[in-house]
Amino acid sequence: MSAIKAAITAVQGYVPKDTLTNQDLEKIVDTTDEWIKSRTGIEKRHILKGEGLGTSDMAAEAVKLLLAKRGIDATEIDLLICATVTPDHVFPATANIISAKIGAVNAWSYDLGAACSGFIFALVTGSQFIETGKYKKVVVVGADKMSSIVDYTDRTTCVIFGDGAGAVLLEPTTEGVGVMDSILKTDGNGKVYLHQKAGGSVRPASHETVDNKEHFVFQDGQPVFKAAVVGMADVSAEIMERNHLSSDDVAWLVPHQANLRIIDATARRMGVGNDKVMINIQRYGNTTSGTIPLCLWEWEKQLRKGDNLVLAAFGGGFTWGAVYVKWAYDSQ
Ligand code: UT7
Repeated sequence: MSAIKAAITAVQGYVPKDTLTNQDLEKIVDTTDEWIKSRTGIEKRHILKGEGLGTSDMAAEAVKLLLAKRGIDATEIDLLICATVTPDHVFPATANIISAKIGAVNAWSYDLGAACSGFIFALVTGSQFIETGKYKKVVVVGADKMSSIVDYTDRTTCVIFGDGAGAVLLEPTTEGVGVMDSILKTDGNGKVYLHQKAGGSVRPASHETVDNKEHFVFQDGQPVFKAAVVGMADVSAEIMERNHLSSDDVAWLVPHQANLRIIDATARRMGVGNDKVMINIQRYGNTTSGTIPLCLWEWEKQLRKGDNLVLAAFGGGFTWGAVYVKWAYDSQ
């Protein structure tokens, strides 16, 4: 019998109903639809509106729908991991709040922060628990309310990000499918190019930090772009090589949706044609931890058992990586 692997047995996304189009942004900052589309690929993004609503609200919706789809009760979940950089609060963990909202009373839960690589880091972490044989049902949810940390007077960042959540259920399998391999990397020297300056222990919130708009995303786009192109492409090519996957063997590239040009560069390096790349950045923008599960959710019906997927991401930290997943089921 082959070793226990973690199979993705269900996937679900959730995006809030309100949208912010490029045309809307043209009225707020000095930008154009043409600039945004040609430099990023984005046409619109979804924004969570409503007093008192946060990341956990989107994540809880995604997880509730996920469980209904799989036909299981929240009480059956053993562990819930939430990848996010926009937690509801500094503490408690957003994962704790999601679990309470959905009634996952038998689960323990925690957050994982790895910026735009958060979902793949959490997926690999969750898989390890399944592979021990001790855990039967692990939920991994990636969710971010990026609109809560975006400065809508800064044209260099506000055009990029959107809000959304996506979740997968992991269950054990011995059928030779599931999370097969991963390459995960970090380099904290990348902090200077992409971070939130205040609100942490180094620079706690104060009148001054608020006045200076230091609670928003700071990004120096060019160096991040360059590092992302190299980082995402390198690990994607490496994971193919060490698993003896040719470009024909790869059914789908599932890339983090930060910039269409970064996605294209990764696909080119892998030798994978555009018809095998999941791209929905035009509709959602960069939802940080939500991008990859939102792609899986939207393409679910096209996925077949045994399909080879390469999930790839790059984000603040720097964090980056690639995960090789053999899809575990045919969707009805
Ligand atoms: O997901 C987490 C990781 N993040 C990423 O992977 C993002 C990586 N970076 C990028 O995707 C790109 O660097 C951006 C989309 C952020 C920016 O695109 P770019 O092609 O690198 O533009 P740039 O920063 O080099 O700016 C080019 C010009 C500048 O004007 P000048 O100096 O040439 O006159 C900017 O001021 O474009 C200007 N610009 C804009 N113009 C219209 C910057 N933002 C805008 C805007 N609309 N929204």
